[in-house]
Amino acid sequence: MNNSINILLKEAICRLRNSGIKDPVGDSRKLLAHALRISKKDLIMMNQASITEEIKANFISFIELREDLKPVSQILGFRSFWGRDFYIDENVLDPRPETETIINHALKREFNKVLDLGTGSGIIIITLLLERQSSLGQAVDISNSALSVAAKNIKKFNLDDRVSVISSNWCEGVHEKFDLVVANPPYIDRSRNELYDQSIISWEPEIALFSNKHGFGAYLAIAQQLRLVLKDTGVAIFEIGYDQALKVSRIFQNEGFQTSVFKDLSNKDRVIEVTF
Ligand SMILES: C[S@@+](CC[C@H](N)C(=O)[O-])C[C@H]1O[C@@H](n2cnc3c(N)ncnc32)[C@H](O)[C@@H]1O
Repeated sequence: MNNSINILLKEAICRLRNSGIKDPVGDSRKLLAHALRISKKDLIMMNQASITEEIKANFISFIELREDLKPVSQILGFRSFWGRDFYIDENVLDPRPETETIINHALKREFNKVLDLGTGSGIIIITLLLERQSSLGQAVDISNSALSVAAKNIKKFNLDDRVSVISSNWCEGVHEKFDLVVANPPYIDRSRNELYDQSIISWEPEIALFSNKHGFGAYLAIAQQLRLVLKDTGVAIFEIGYDQALKVSRIFQNEGFQTSVFKDLSNKDRVIEVTF
């Protein structure tokens, strides 16, 4: 049996390519590095090396899960966001790189108190609090299993003293006002779910993905409650789907807010900033 890293990697890439995985090379390398408990960078030095039967079996089991479209972050148990590794499991959205657009815009603002609606794994609020050492936050989610993941990450980054975690339907359980409100709410239109990658639909929680009212239900609910939690001088920054800018802007404008839309690194509309 051939246990050379080069050959195992080639076979894995071929299997993932045949399963329609978008980045078979990147995913195979990440999973092999994980099986070997080394970094992806160190893997480059080991191309000619052989691995033990045990590591090979682990690697093949990871590849089988990926063939079954399980997200890489769920197989690894973590996902990098803004340069830090966050604990991730099947109870939360697999954080997307485009969500860093919220962080980019939020860090251009002054804030002491930040509210994260639909916190999931907590990546947004944790990143903001770590980047602004004197700030405090509140993290909200309706899913208790998501809140347990957020709590794990809050502990991992030693933020227990700076962030409170509450179970709430958007702002209903929030009784303070904030300088900054952020959210990456679910925004996929349930009736169009056939258009989305099956890995998303099979492995991530529905509540993190889909919204009613053609994908706009969360924005409608938040727009109606926002003035109760946003200070007069504050700003709210929300992620949007690439084709939702016009409609989401109208939703907030109809509630009396000013809006501006910004693009992500792929030049797609990605965040909306909302002020009084
Ligand atoms: C798209 S995920 C975002 C997770 C995380 N903030 C991120 O960017 O990776 C949306 C989150 O909103 C939460 N959510 C859905 N409906 C909610 C509601 N009515 N009230 C509060 N949170 C809700 C989901 O449980 C999920 O964690």
